[in-house]
Amino acid sequence: PPPGWFLDADVVVVGSGVAGLTAALRCAAAGRRTVIVTKARIDDGSTRWAQGGIAAALGEDDTPEGHLADTLVAGAGVCDEEAVRALVTEGPDAVRRLIALGARFDTGADGRISLTREGGHHRRRIAHAGGDATGAEISRALAAAVRAAGIETVEGALALDLLKDASGRAAGVTLHVMGEGRHDGVGAVRAPAVVLATGGMGQVFAATTNPSVSTGDGVALALRAGAEVSDLEFVQFHPTVLWLGPEAEGQQPLISEAVRGEGAHLVDAEGVRFMTGQHELAELAPRDIVAKAITRRMHEQGVPHMYLDARHFGAAMWEERFPTILAACRAHGIDPVNQPIPVSPAAHYASGGVRTDLSGRTTIPGLYACGEVACTGVHGANRLASNSLLEGLVFAERIAAAVERDVPAGTAPAVAAPGPASGPLPPPEARAALQRAMTEGAGVLRSAAGLAATAAALDALTGGEDRKPAEPGADTWETANLHLVARVLVTAAQLRTETRGCHWREDHPGRDDAHWRRHLVVTLHPAGP
Ligand code: SIN
Repeated sequence: PPPGWFLDADVVVVGSGVAGLTAALRCAAAGRRTVIVTKARIDDGSTRWAQGGIAAALGEDDTPEGHLADTLVAGAGVCDEEAVRALVTEGPDAVRRLIALGARFDTGADGRISLTREGGHHRRRIAHAGGDATGAEISRALAAAVRAAGIETVEGALALDLLKDASGRAAGVTLHVMGEGRHDGVGAVRAPAVVLATGGMGQVFAATTNPSVSTGDGVALALRAGAEVSDLEFVQFHPTVLWLGPEAEGQQPLISEAVRGEGAHLVDAEGVRFMTGQHELAELAPRDIVAKAITRRMHEQGVPHMYLDARHFGAAMWEERFPTILAACRAHGIDPVNQPIPVSPAAHYASGGVRTDLSGRTTIPGLYACGEVACTGVHGANRLASNSLLEGLVFAERIAAAVERDVPAGTAPAVAAPGPASGPLPPPEARAALQRAMTEGAGVLRSAAGLAATAAALDALTGGEDRKPAEPGADTWETANLHLVARVLVTAAQLRTETRGCHWREDHPGRDDAHWRRHLVVTLHPAGP
């Protein structure tokens, strides 16, 4: 539908997690009129749910080189080393700036930031807040700073499509705003710089740690606009998600890796520890290795979950160090002080996304991408734990600097036409079928047969002569986004006939560096006007 209202800005930031809010603050501080548009409320994205923390070489025994080495190992041979170097060298100062802005991290008796460990890290390197509520504190601090800076924020705004000018440059976004506010219905923000910071796509799977807003909107928008998208097959499954039964769907409670970082053990159905002997870091091996070991042992024992045992922490440590997780477990009738926690893997993080350079530029001039929606090259085939909040911070600052260089102040976008027409809309009730098909055939363990079945199930959701056309609306557009990113993800997973990082093919169990030490890049049509 054509936009019913327009708002003009120098920069429009789509999304309000750590990446979006940091980019908006930096652009506004540079004097650019900045508007944030966000699908729900300002603090409703994934950032708020982050538990373990933010990784940076802040400890006396640590160096950016050590952080670089661990990130490259986790990324399984396909990280962009230059991007990782930017992340780890600029990371510590980016965290210090976040603290200066008002974020309060946990400290020890000596006043220094407390650091914990997570999978794949050889050092204590993870700063945390409120014990296990790091994302909530970062979100609070950034949202307060955005309000203090007076940055205009449009909430309840689902981004639909990219606007372009006659030369093919980004010129804004169309939106569907759900609310009673000044801007309602379908409208647009016109701006010569568009920053996508829409987060992930965990909701393509039936069970995920991601909130309901993580529906792949940014990747879908970028694909429709003709931008390049890369590495979508590398979906990270978090090894330890509270198991709530075989039918559990939607967002599931995360049990942070930091629980293992502080000494919890994974045990099988017979109470036997199974990570020792599998990897030198045992329970703290990189996330893909732990998720695979859990899945294998579940299959061997014919059970739907393993256990995380941290009874030895005692009540006081649980209450002080992991209050969020303790409350979530108790809300579901599990008391981790007295019993092992049932856990199994669930979809957690998209290591791929909209392809960018080291300054967050996508392949469409004027369109930038930052945070989980982006593929900057720092994660390779498997993101290292707690590198995501850091990526959001560091690359948001890089994007703000790039906007300063790329877009002269006062540039007014000349919008050529409303965004491209969306493809066929799957009916909203297709969402649950799509999620089940993805978990079944494109989940932790994949094969040619399973992926083909999932691809066919996805295709059936939009096909069919007799299908009634779906009513346009937020739910339908979100489902269309889920469908598009799921379809591309499955195609990429079919093409990558090897096992690497978090992409695990039972029919191609080895890593094939000769053929596959490279990236799968997808574009739906060449970028242009
Ligand atoms: C966790 O706390 O285990 C999640 C950390 C992350 O996903 O980086």
